[in-house]
Amino acid sequence: MKSTMKIDEDGYGYNTTMLPDYDGFIIIKPGFLEYTDNIIKDLHRLDFTIIEALEKTLTKEEAETIYSVHKGKPFYEELIRYMTSGPCIGMILLSPYSDKESAIETLKQLKEKYRKRNSIDKTHNVMHSSDSYQNALYEAEAFFN
Ligand code: CMP
Repeated sequence: MKSTMKIDEDGYGYNTTMLPDYDGFIIIKPGFLEYTDNIIKDLHRLDFTIIEALEKTLTKEEAETIYSVHKGKPFYEELIRYMTSGPCIGMILLSPYSDKESAIETLKQLKEKYRKRNSIDKTHNVMHSSDSYQNALYEAEAFFN
């Protein structure tokens, strides 16, 4: 378990939620939930544990938080519209690896496998996986609120 330090509006630091320690975060994107069973099978085959999973339709604010690094890019508005257009599934994952980088890399390969086979275009691309451990923490916290 790890505690996170936040700064409130008055500038005081305080300890908030006790976050579970995990290694990765993925989102199965709107319109692609039919791949959920296969993605779960692959995760289990790769010895990942699904710590938490939730199906929900993201609010605009949640999508903008998760994708804040892309704000201002040409595809940003379409991305936010798409990610709030219907249900998606977020999963917090624990990997079999002792280092975070291997977990992130393995999830990246899994994402690319599904994208190559099933993407419609650059926006509608089946699934998201966080590209670093820090981003996984940030994005999962935004997704699970
Ligand atoms: P994702 O890995 O979830 O992170 C950023 C998202 O922006 C990406 O998947 C796509 O859904 C979307 N996107 C749309 N166009 C582009 C683009 N040209 N380059 C990168 N990402 C794009």
